[in-house]
Amino acid sequence: MRKTIIEPFKIKVTEPLVLKSREEREEILKKADYNLFLVKSEDVTFDFLTDSGTTAMSANQWAAMMVADESYAGSRSFHRFKSKVTEITSYDHVIPTHQGRASERLLFGVLLRPGMKVPSNNHFDTTRANIEFLGAQAVDLVIPEGKIPDHEHPFKGNIDLSRLESFCREFKDKIPLGMLTITNNTGGGQPVSLENIREAARIYHKHGIPFILDACRFAENAWFIKTRENAHSNSSIKAIVSEIFSLADGCLMSAKKDGMVNIGGFIALKDSTWVQDLRNQLILTEGFPTYGGLAARDLEALAVGLDEAMDEDYLRYRIATSSYMGRRLNEMGIPTVRPAGGHAVYIDAEKFLPHIPKAQFPGQALAAELYLQDGVRTCEIGSVMFKEAASMELVRMAFPRRVYTQSHFDYILEGFQDIKERSRELRGFRIKEAPPFLRHFTVKFERF
Ligand code: F0G
Repeated sequence: MRKTIIEPFKIKVTEPLVLKSREEREEILKKADYNLFLVKSEDVTFDFLTDSGTTAMSANQWAAMMVADESYAGSRSFHRFKSKVTEITSYDHVIPTHQGRASERLLFGVLLRPGMKVPSNNHFDTTRANIEFLGAQAVDLVIPEGKIPDHEHPFKGNIDLSRLESFCREFKDKIPLGMLTITNNTGGGQPVSLENIREAARIYHKHGIPFILDACRFAENAWFIKTRENAHSNSSIKAIVSEIFSLADGCLMSAKKDGMVNIGGFIALKDSTWVQDLRNQLILTEGFPTYGGLAARDLEALAVGLDEAMDEDYLRYRIATSSYMGRRLNEMGIPTVRPAGGHAVYIDAEKFLPHIPKAQFPGQALAAELYLQDGVRTCEIGSVMFKEAASMELVRMAFPRRVYTQSHFDYILEGFQDIKERSRELRGFRIKEAPPFLRHFTVKFERF
């Protein structure tokens, strides 16, 4: 086995990296009141804020965009997109949307009423918010191992089947749909095993509950099934993906992740029961059913991207990068959620910076230092974001797809070594000004 990770592509179009001095970044960060969301991207060297919508598209995707048919109704591009989604998922009913949360709002708007409950392993923030907005309850039933950052488990995204069984038995009349998020972003980008998906499907169906996947990282999840679940090591990714989808009744998709595009999403369903209501709602706020708030060129790029996300050379490289980052950080003594997730590595800032109390935001301290050190932008997921409800103080490094190279990652690791050596000198922050909700986007800090 070769040790060096290579990108399984060559580069046709480049964009310069922004290289600034630490002094310049000190100035920039101070002006942004130490909030990385308020820093301009032109002042960021390595942007690890999210893997969503930040993918570099391939030559084939750009080529497909050029031949898009921008007709208002019945566009050829829609049919190409729809056939691709049906081929991959086996679902006949495909509704395009502008992104994942639009799919959530539409489906939940049709299905949920106050007092209803929606179980999942973990709901992503926007999924939870869309459920709660309708007066229903989003219930997280991930396995206990999924909540312990340094507990190694191959499928930390699994749902707790015995809790799911008793939850469904007790509340089945109040559960219009059951979900699973693959991979489990909220729990650290952790995968769900095929066996767990199959058992969850069995439980939902036994109680007459439709099963809908939040499938935005379906290809990364399939790679983990192939490499960690013995029964599937000889299956192709495409075969695993079709088995995953065949177990559910439909999916919600943010195509900004494993759709390999910068914007887009869809709802795909096996059965036609909800489709008319969904299309009526779609026309009200998103657009006509053959474009759903997207340009036809977006649909073309997505049709190509869905296949590229399942390419095994690509997936091998993609997951090798996040595992490499996690392993090298751990070797340096920097604690992370283990194992590394598919799209991201989550650093445990509370453990890494034990001299900074929770009230002084250790995650924010590390995120600010990563920016000052090498212009790396990350995202605090801890007390800044969730206030007192935060159970961990994490910093997420989410990796855009096909954007940064192995030498970039090695360079960033050198910077981490430097931070590690002077970690005792890092200081916490105090909040100067904060809005009442979603405060992480606009909060202003000052240094202790
Ligand atoms: N579901 C999951 C699991 C997600 O990770 C996201 C977005 C969504 C739904 C919503 O999709 O952004 O297209 O509306 N996650 C991004 C992130 C924002 O940074 O993790 P969207």
